[in-house]
Amino acid sequence: KILILDFGSQYTQLIARSIRELNIYCEIKPCLQPVQWDDTVKGIILSGSPFSVNEPNAPTVDIAAMAAKVPVLGVCYGAQLMAKNFGGEVAKSNIREYGRAFMVHDNKEEKALFDISPRSQVWMSHSDTIVRMPEGFEIIAQTDSIPVAAFKCDTRTPFPMVGFQFHPEVTHSLEGKTMLRNFLVHICGCKQDWTPAAFVQETVEKIKAQVGDKKVVMALSGGVDSTVAAELIHKAIGSNLYCIFVDNGLLRKDEFETVLDSYKHMGLNVKGVNAKDLFYGELAGVSDPEKKRKIIGRLFIEVFQQEATLLQNISFLGQGTIYPDVIESVSVNGPSVTIKSHHNVGGLPEKMNMGLVEPLRFLFKDEVRRVGREIGISEIFLGRHPFPGPGLAIRILGEITADKVAMLQEADSIYIEGLREHGLYDKVWQAGTILLPVQSVGVMGDERTYEFTVALRAVTSVDGMTADWAHLPYEFLAQMSNDIINKVKGINRVVYDISSKPPATIEWE
Ligand code: XMP
Repeated sequence: KILILDFGSQYTQLIARSIRELNIYCEIKPCLQPVQWDDTVKGIILSGSPFSVNEPNAPTVDIAAMAAKVPVLGVCYGAQLMAKNFGGEVAKSNIREYGRAFMVHDNKEEKALFDISPRSQVWMSHSDTIVRMPEGFEIIAQTDSIPVAAFKCDTRTPFPMVGFQFHPEVTHSLEGKTMLRNFLVHICGCKQDWTPAAFVQETVEKIKAQVGDKKVVMALSGGVDSTVAAELIHKAIGSNLYCIFVDNGLLRKDEFETVLDSYKHMGLNVKGVNAKDLFYGELAGVSDPEKKRKIIGRLFIEVFQQEATLLQNISFLGQGTIYPDVIESVSVNGPSVTIKSHHNVGGLPEKMNMGLVEPLRFLFKDEVRRVGREIGISEIFLGRHPFPGPGLAIRILGEITADKVAMLQEADSIYIEGLREHGLYDKVWQAGTILLPVQSVGVMGDERTYEFTVALRAVTSVDGMTADWAHLPYEFLAQMSNDIINKVKGINRVVYDISSKPPATIEWE
């Protein structure tokens, strides 16, 4: 595997994803955490950082000690840190490069630049520049504006060191993937054999070894992660996996029944629990979004625990936790580097005194989908938009009633089906309808109406952290408005949300 030491760059996860796309396994570690060496570590990558290497509190690591064991690649800050640590000089420069630049080289023999065009578009984001290279370091590429775009050193440490001033992990670095492959395959000697099939085989073996003939209980949500996780565990231990799918009354129209059916078809041992009334009862009269979330979270745990205790002799809890939930993130907003540790999922395991089985703990979302495809999970699950845990509760602004849920479910179903029929569903990252606590005047036939408004939301995004409102065709929006107002009693107005995130959020609550 490859270790990526994170110095707080916004692009660190992109480095990891690019490497994984090359079918090479890698993990992200906070830069200041001591490296855990073992035979599987084949190389180290030092990420970028919002710091300047010359700031007194800039994070630093012992690169020589690392390059005594494996090859090291520095990216942006990582490259500058390398130059500085070995006696070079990095300085604030008049020439700041942000965005597109062209890396030029005529170095056909250089391993790091195999197959790279003599003039290759790269993505830069730096204001400091390496002004003097350390002894024994060789410049292997420039740009039009700076002398050091890439360098290497084969002589000062047992293993080679390479530095890229640009960001090979960003798609605007058009040949960045090849450059990473060059480092990983030709310099570190990695094999590109970390495929979904290999992952499935290895994971199923691990689960078998961990669980043996004991029993696992797991909550399913209908989403991609819990479904793929359950199927992997199921492959390993068969009917010793007990799944629970709770109907909180806040799912999409008919979703509980259809999803439960699909789970049964997949051969999962699943129990559907209808807890609608409990949820509606406790949510009655509550309009504060955070209170709604808390109530829903608490009730879910209560229902799940109750069901789990009915099953006897359960030793493990299965979860669909994925890598972005567990990466320890480095934050450099303060005067020093701090490391936040995310420990996922509302306290279930501690309370329940069970071991955890988390087969997707090291996968990114797109990898979960690839694995899902590998084990034959239907595209209906894999291609699904994200849906928030509190469900329609946070899309009904204000108080929740069963009638409002039913109204929103109808509108949502028309919209989502419409997106599918018009071939738009897969073009947006997430879509849904929001029931506003606003009544307005309308006229239907000869009658005056005074009814609710529904907002349609659709966004494009990569990871939900930022999002643009989707520019859906006017004709489509016109048809949705017509269909919803004509078919859903209680709604006489439809609006389209044209806010992006930031400054808005995807959900309204
Ligand atoms: P926001 O509204 O923060 O949403 O832009 C980003 C993504 O997170 C989902 N979301 C939630 N998911 N519980 C969840 O499981 C929640 O309380 C929650 N709030 C927002 C949202 O649907 C979007 O995909």
